[in-house]
Amino acid sequence: MRRKIVAANWKMNGSNDLADALVGEVREGLAKLDNGVEVVIIPPALYIARVQQLVGERAWLGVQDIAPWGEGAYTGEISAGMAADSGCRFAIVGHSERRELFGETDAVIADKVSQGLAAKLNLILCVGETLHQREAGLAVDVVSAQLKEALKGVSGSDWKHIVVAYEPVWAIGTGKTATAEDAQAVHGAMRSVLAEMGAPAQDLSLLYGGSVKPNNAAELFAQPDIDGGLIGGASLKASDFLAICEAF
Ligand code: PGA
Repeated sequence: MRRKIVAANWKMNGSNDLADALVGEVREGLAKLDNGVEVVIIPPALYIARVQQLVGERAWLGVQDIAPWGEGAYTGEISAGMAADSGCRFAIVGHSERRELFGETDAVIADKVSQGLAAKLNLILCVGETLHQREAGLAVDVVSAQLKEALKGVSGSDWKHIVVAYEPVWAIGTGKTATAEDAQAVHGAMRSVLAEMGAPAQDLSLLYGGSVKPNNAAELFAQPDIDGGLIGGASLKASDFLAICEAF
């Protein structure tokens, strides 16, 4: 059974005050939601404990990144084990902002995946092409290569901890969304690649991310291979985020 998932990626936004206001309202809205969607809130790491207290049992918590190492002299890093120990069930790995701004390669992301799996976290692996790559007709090739590299160490029952988010780089924070048909085409191709890799592809949740808003979420989520969303900007406004959670 595929899980329907909506994850809120706050990125480097927020404060104690924002957490209090936003999560309070989200919690009230989620209490009325009965469409089977699993909600994950992924604030900056410093706010995880506070958000956890505020949201109660209705949402999972996640971290925006984990280290590719287990523990040790890596100033500033947070390990997968620490995230799990602090109540997180999910971690994003390979977000395009990490790839672009911090030079994360597929090899580093593969190490993060293996650390995350060792800590029993559910991983939201982000993949996606740039505008240049899309215009050159390379979207599926790029995404396939990212999947194969980042997930090459995954096997057996570990697959059930893998969630993939297709996030075309040109759609993130830009207000441009892939059309539902374009997104579905990539999602369908990703499911085939995952099946070739030995994953139980029909059971994996594949999310779409990139300018998901209340007015486009329903059409995206209605696609046969789109099982939810990774939400940036719209996750910072409770009414928008809740409307997206309701859009199944
Ligand atoms: P956006 O971000 O919804 O603001 O486009 C999505 C993401 O980067 O995860």
